[in-house]
Amino acid sequence: MNCRYILTSLLLLIVSAYSLAQSPEPGVIPMPATMVVKDGYFTIAPHTVLLYTDEPSKKKAALFASFILKNHGVALAQEKGSKNNGKNSIYFSHEPRRSDKDESYTLLIDPANIVVSGNETGLFYGVQTMMQLVERNNGNIRLKCADIKDQPRFAYRGIMQDVGYHIYPVSFIKSQIEMLAKYKMNVYHWHLTEDHGWRIEIKKYPRLTSVGAYRAGSQVSHYIDSLSGIDHIPYGGFYTQDEIRDIVAFAKERHVTIIPEIELPGHSMAALAAYPQLACGDKPGPFKVAEHWGIYDDVYCAGKENTFKFLEDVLTEVMELFPSEYIHIGGDECPKDRWKVCKYCQKRIKDQQLKDEFELQSYFVKRIEKFVNSKGRKIIGWDEILEGGLAPNAAVMSWRNIEEGIKAAKQQHDVVMAPQTHVYFDFIQGKRELEPLAIGWGYNPIEKVLAFDPTPAGLSKEEKKHIIGVEAAIWTEHMDTHRKVEYMLYPRLMALAEIAWTRRERIDSVNFFEQRLPLHLAELDTTDKLYRVPGPIGIKDTTLYGVEFRIEMKAPVTGAKIYYNFEGQDARETDFLYDKPVYIVLHKGERRQLKAVVITPSGKRSINTTMYFINL
Ligand code: ACM
Ligand code: ZN
Repeated sequence: MNCRYILTSLLLLIVSAYSLAQSPEPGVIPMPATMVVKDGYFTIAPHTVLLYTDEPSKKKAALFASFILKNHGVALAQEKGSKNNGKNSIYFSHEPRRSDKDESYTLLIDPANIVVSGNETGLFYGVQTMMQLVERNNGNIRLKCADIKDQPRFAYRGIMQDVGYHIYPVSFIKSQIEMLAKYKMNVYHWHLTEDHGWRIEIKKYPRLTSVGAYRAGSQVSHYIDSLSGIDHIPYGGFYTQDEIRDIVAFAKERHVTIIPEIELPGHSMAALAAYPQLACGDKPGPFKVAEHWGIYDDVYCAGKENTFKFLEDVLTEVMELFPSEYIHIGGDECPKDRWKVCKYCQKRIKDQQLKDEFELQSYFVKRIEKFVNSKGRKIIGWDEILEGGLAPNAAVMSWRNIEEGIKAAKQQHDVVMAPQTHVYFDFIQGKRELEPLAIGWGYNPIEKVLAFDPTPAGLSKEEKKHIIGVEAAIWTEHMDTHRKVEYMLYPRLMALAEIAWTRRERIDSVNFFEQRLPLHLAELDTTDKLYRVPGPIGIKDTTLYGVEFRIEMKAPVTGAKIYYNFEGQDARETDFLYDKPVYIVLHKGERRQLKAVVITPSGKRSINTTMYFINL
């Protein structure tokens, strides 16, 4: 052992002794707005009482009680009462006077009692934080004492789940909604119609599902191979209105709003396969539900009145099912080829004195907006709805880049930031050659998600108010099973929740990746959900030049092990188990390679991280 090693070890000892003396930081994700950690713990005992004052607070007490029963086997008494009853108690204080839009809560944890207060939503989030704080220590079930005052940065915190390319069981949709709620996300944007499948039962137009929900095959190879690779296996399915009502109610209980998306005027091949007369020209079709991924030229005819009658009928049923303030009408990637040569579309352009087909799209969206507004709802659409003039009350989902969102905010429209460059979760999250098949060109590792600030610089204070939130998109061309969706969603969801809820200055990426996320992944690891196991903390795929190297690694999942070798093959459990820093000393001209893998308690593995060391 050399001197430097002894010194380093001494330093490490001092550092660990210091951190032991400190109160451990509770691992809450997303990080609360303010959290003052205090000495001591509140211990949950069989005699702990949950106190409530009214029906809403009784419900939140019951939610916490069922969590404790399920996870820790203790049945807690719940009774109406006041926080001053002198017992070891948790008091759920409903403050109904706060506005519905207020999602804030206060959570005060002392050794003798806990008080959580807020309106119904705030109380729900307070309980989510409490559930994250519960820990087991030497048989004790306890929560670290702390004063927490919390509220979200953004009102809109969502994911977009596409079920057009592939469809998933109701149980899976519910499991996603549960995870959203756990991380204080509040929007599930449900992309229900695509060229490749119509997924929502519409009573008035049964062929939408009997025909439009099924395709003859699916593309199985990569996007760039789009002329080949159809599997010729019939594929399809849809959600019945009963299933949808059940899911909407499930989401409501968890304070998640489901925003349905009915794509128009493009991405409508499945609807046209069912009702070809809605396309351009005198005798359109026949069409088939699309099999290759991509964009299709056949779209709803903007000249025919029966297109609008159809869409208004569909939207009427949709609005009966979904109580959301916003209805998503798509609006993206609508080719204008057919409109250019359609006599009905051209007549519409002439009659309405429109400049071109972009203004025709704008006419289309504005007309739909007027209808949706007449039912007391608002539309939101992908950023192409800016082209040709934005509908007066529409909100914009900025997906192609950030600039479109800036443009919309400057026009005083509300904006949800969903740029593909940062929050498209269909993009890969690691080395392309090692990651599962994913869409085209994009690369959105979790670090990039966490670093994304949804409010762009360069907006005035007033314009910034129009950035109402952030949303990640899960397009599913290459996600034929819900397992793959899970792999693409977790743990990027946790980073998304952090940027959606937590103010920028409170986001500490080292604390997120090294302290909090490992605890959350350890919990996820005990469930049946798949997730992408991050590589060891402290190393990355890179080349380092020098003579001596000291490599320290940390498990990204609490309780996981790291194995490594220098031989070049993928690391596995028969290799060296990492338990102390690795030293590498190179002769002149020598090079070495370190490969390391994480294996979690449930046996899940990370993709190998490879580091090269060269002494030139
Ligand atoms: C989109 O990704 N086409 C909105
Ligand atoms: Zn037409």
